[in-house]
Amino acid sequence: MSHDAITSLLKESRKFEPPAEFARKARISSREAYDALYRESLDNPESFWRRETKDLVFRTPWTETLEWNLPHAKWFLGATLNITESCLDRHLSTPVRNKAAIIWEGEYGETRTLTYAQLHRETLLLADALAKLGVEKGDRVAIYMGMVPEVAVAMLACARLGAVHTVIFGGFAADAIRDRVHDSQAKVVITQDGGYRRGNVLELKSTVDKALAQPQAKSVQKTIVLRHLGDKCPVQMTEGRDVWWHDIVDPNGHATREATIVDAEHPLFILYTSGSTGKPKGVLHTTAGYLAGVHVTSKYVFDLQDDDVYWCTADVGWVTGHSYIVYGPLSNGATCLMYEGAPNFPDWGRFWRLIERHRVTILYTAPTAIRAFMRQGDEWPKKSDLSSLRLLGSVGEPINPEAWIWYHQNIGGGRCPVVDTWWQTETGAILMTTVPGASASKPGSTGLPMFGVVPDVVTKEGQSVGANQGGMLVLRKPWPSMMRTVWGDDERFRRTYFSDVEGCYFTGDGARRDEDGYFWVVGRIDDVLNVAGHRIGTAEIESTLVSHPAVAEAAAVGRPDDLKGQALVVFVSLRPGFTAGDALANELGNHVGKEIGKFAKPDNIRFADSLPKTRSGKIMRRLLKDVAAGRETTGDTSTLEDLSVLAKLRTSDE
Ligand code: PRX
Repeated sequence: MSHDAITSLLKESRKFEPPAEFARKARISSREAYDALYRESLDNPESFWRRETKDLVFRTPWTETLEWNLPHAKWFLGATLNITESCLDRHLSTPVRNKAAIIWEGEYGETRTLTYAQLHRETLLLADALAKLGVEKGDRVAIYMGMVPEVAVAMLACARLGAVHTVIFGGFAADAIRDRVHDSQAKVVITQDGGYRRGNVLELKSTVDKALAQPQAKSVQKTIVLRHLGDKCPVQMTEGRDVWWHDIVDPNGHATREATIVDAEHPLFILYTSGSTGKPKGVLHTTAGYLAGVHVTSKYVFDLQDDDVYWCTADVGWVTGHSYIVYGPLSNGATCLMYEGAPNFPDWGRFWRLIERHRVTILYTAPTAIRAFMRQGDEWPKKSDLSSLRLLGSVGEPINPEAWIWYHQNIGGGRCPVVDTWWQTETGAILMTTVPGASASKPGSTGLPMFGVVPDVVTKEGQSVGANQGGMLVLRKPWPSMMRTVWGDDERFRRTYFSDVEGCYFTGDGARRDEDGYFWVVGRIDDVLNVAGHRIGTAEIESTLVSHPAVAEAAAVGRPDDLKGQALVVFVSLRPGFTAGDALANELGNHVGKEIGKFAKPDNIRFADSLPKTRSGKIMRRLLKDVAAGRETTGDTSTLEDLSVLAKLRTSDE
């Protein structure tokens, strides 16, 4: 996206002050209080982080706050801990012991509640079983499950042993599982027979079987299978490899598994995310810094109070689920609602009935969902009593002001602050937002930096640009929950994040900062798309397409989409002997669905004789983006190899 485009986007001037009633009870209740904390976090990080992490459990306190050897940060040096003691054990001696940690609702409406004591017990029992299967500190365990409480148990059980979990979103296909298992060299896979999604059965175990049948996945020694659907989803168990969860976890057993105490920088999890090359990268997060980041942001951004019922609608397979369903809320002793299924099952009133039924006070969801609800009309939320809500959050993509206002009015009844939280898989925790009792929000702006975070908008040369000028969004200082490296590829870590702008972490996003210091993020400016809040690398789509025998060349680009933010459009040229048409387009779409996952299927496949290239052979994506969006091409085409190619692409559209 060009600087001009960034600058011209979003000329929004509405401003919403924190409601007085909200601010009165809030943890941070004035702009002055936020400013003072922010200043302290930069001027005296030692005192800031010591105080703000005092509720967490460190077996040995840290001696040094930060060691920064760009691009490598080490936080809280000398500390030892186990993250599960902060999320579970520490609550057992307080009234939180009997408080609900997870309230779960299945797609068909059944519910289960796990108190903190029960979640602790389940975690220790599974940890014990994993240890008996040979899982040790540092081993990788892949988790491929749906939204059931046991997915949190599985993550926590790994952490209990100092094992590194890598959760693979349940929408990924077998080949994507295979690649992640291979890259992380996972020893164990934890899965479930199946889960419900929009009334359909998602066969998770059989997808794992397909992945593990491939030689690249041979690191896996054991598969643990949770029975969730039972007769509705029969599975085949492979002798010697597969074990049932209920056969290895004894419900009457003694939950005494001691926590494995690890160093502050011990790896906690790997989460794969799309980047600008064909291969997803394993974002590595470590223990103490990540915990500090998610603990502090959960507490202040969601203003968590004892009686809150907090609902983050993300899937645990993405970073939002890790940080704001599991580690952040649990480390604060919060009650989280977890919902198994689709927002529109059996109808578009489902979310609102969930809120009414469980008296949800905080809702954290994504703009794509908000826009989809908005499209269905105001009648749906009106059918339910949403008066329990007191705070709304948004994450994952830029929220357009119209959707923000609709959310604020129709869901929040005009009384709930809206926190638009900007962050990434790589950042681990929320880095920008408006702290709800303290700072006014502006629809479409992601607000101000969180504690210890120094964002800036710069030119390619690293010069800060003036107010309301567009540029690259960078982070000038390290923060505790930042990723530490790309698993197994430190060079890629340096190249991807620290080579564009000297001395800074480059986010891949374009942004501007307004005259009040508020940030407005407009989206990715690298080759990553954000389709319905899912991160999709264009190179990944392209390499998948060219792996199909019919495809000679492919280029994937985004086009603006009212609902999904961006839609995925691919241009393909074919090998001789193949004929363009709906049948082949369908086949190619299914090919992407099979290789990556259904969520990555292109919205539109366009056939072309050849793709427009520069004289040096680079595909001219900017032009393709214009064609995809139906815009006139205004850019420089002087280096275009063959102008007629562009003309043909246009006519094929008409
Ligand atoms: O482009 C930004 C967008 O999502 C990207 C990060 O995607 P992912 O790692 O999948 O994490 C999503 C959940 C944290 C960012 O580079 N993004 C995320 N939140 C916002 C956003 N864009 C605008 N406003 C946001 N609040």
